[in-house]
Amino acid sequence: MTGHAIPMTDQLLNLFDYERAAQARVATPTWEYQAGGANDEVTLRANRAAWDELAIRFRTMIDVSTRSTATTILGAPVSMPIFVAPTAMQKLAHPDGECGMARATAQAGTLLVVSTTATTGLSEVAAEVPEAPKWFQVYVYSGREHTEALVREAAAAGYRALVLTVDTPVLGRRERDIRSGFTLPPGLEIKNAVDAGMGAVPTATGESSGLMRHFRGLHDPAITPRDIRWLREISGLPVVVKGIVRGDDARRAIDGGASAIIVSNHGGRQLDTAIATARALPEVVAAVNGAVEVYVDGGIRRGTDVLKALAMGARAVLLGRPVLWGLAMNGAAGAQHVLELLRDELDLAMALTGSPSLSDITPDLLAGARAG
Ligand SMILES: Cc1cc2nc3c(=O)[nH]c(=O)nc-3n(C[C@H](O)[C@H](O)[C@H](O)COP(=O)(O)O)c2cc1C
Repeated sequence: MTGHAIPMTDQLLNLFDYERAAQARVATPTWEYQAGGANDEVTLRANRAAWDELAIRFRTMIDVSTRSTATTILGAPVSMPIFVAPTAMQKLAHPDGECGMARATAQAGTLLVVSTTATTGLSEVAAEVPEAPKWFQVYVYSGREHTEALVREAAAAGYRALVLTVDTPVLGRRERDIRSGFTLPPGLEIKNAVDAGMGAVPTATGESSGLMRHFRGLHDPAITPRDIRWLREISGLPVVVKGIVRGDDARRAIDGGASAIIVSNHGGRQLDTAIATARALPEVVAAVNGAVEVYVDGGIRRGTDVLKALAMGARAVLLGRPVLWGLAMNGAAGAQHVLELLRDELDLAMALTGSPSLSDITPDLLAGARAG
């Protein structure tokens, strides 16, 4: 090998390459925070495995010379059925932080969801990509007046929907963060929590990470379907409910006024041994019965995973960790590359399953049997 040759491992060909490279790049407590799940991380692993275990019955002898991954998500045109999940504190991954993620998402032609627990204020993120579609994810604070102010600000800043996360009445027990004493380093703040007096994340104790203390001090553990209508009324925006794994909960959310459902277990970070999202999706799709769009996240890493989610009735999927890996490696350009890699993989999977358009991705593509 010559001195200039790039070892194969440095090539970023897929999302797993980004994962390995990002682990070597970011500070250890940040890595543990981003990568980790709750308790024994059974659900974290199950989310991933459940996609692999589904086998595809590919079609042949179909003209796939022209294909398109373009679609709409709650009416917004996007280049792919893949969008960016809300993840907290993106400046930990890269100084570009949430503004870099916003540029990446807009460049890739898709939809951004911005977390309440961001290290950049929600209006500043919106101003970065004024024309691009974006939603604001809400954690409801016990001081409701602060949440009311934030969602009004989101509506004024051009966010097109609110995402109410309902799988986090309290924070899950992420033991990696307790061990590492995880908290925000000096100089970073939860900008949207400054007015509520909680911008600075508390220091960790032996028992609790800084984030656990932040949640306990600020977040309301009494969220019910009534809050969906409340958020709609005060913001004038549609409300998407995130963190559903049961048909009956999906119905309760829709009866409460939800405009769409995200099947999610928070990337395995909340209740450990919770059902994998690929397994929960069919029940939710059946219960919703076409009333609203259904999206899914958790362990989506390959274009074939996206295809499987769509075959089971999801309108689109969300990516959590992989775009953080992209951001860590190369700021906005890295996150954009991750999105484009997955779009290309989906396009290939469409070609190889005889699916020139997204509407050709139908349930018969999935075998009842498992792969392998
Ligand atoms: C580091 C990190 C921070 C997250 N922060 C939030 C958040 O602030 N709000 C939220 O609703 N979900 C949050 N999530 C969950 C994601 O929105 C998403 O459900 C999950 O990451 C999807 O799984 P994946 O990472 O396997 O793609 C976070 C996930 C990670 C990994």
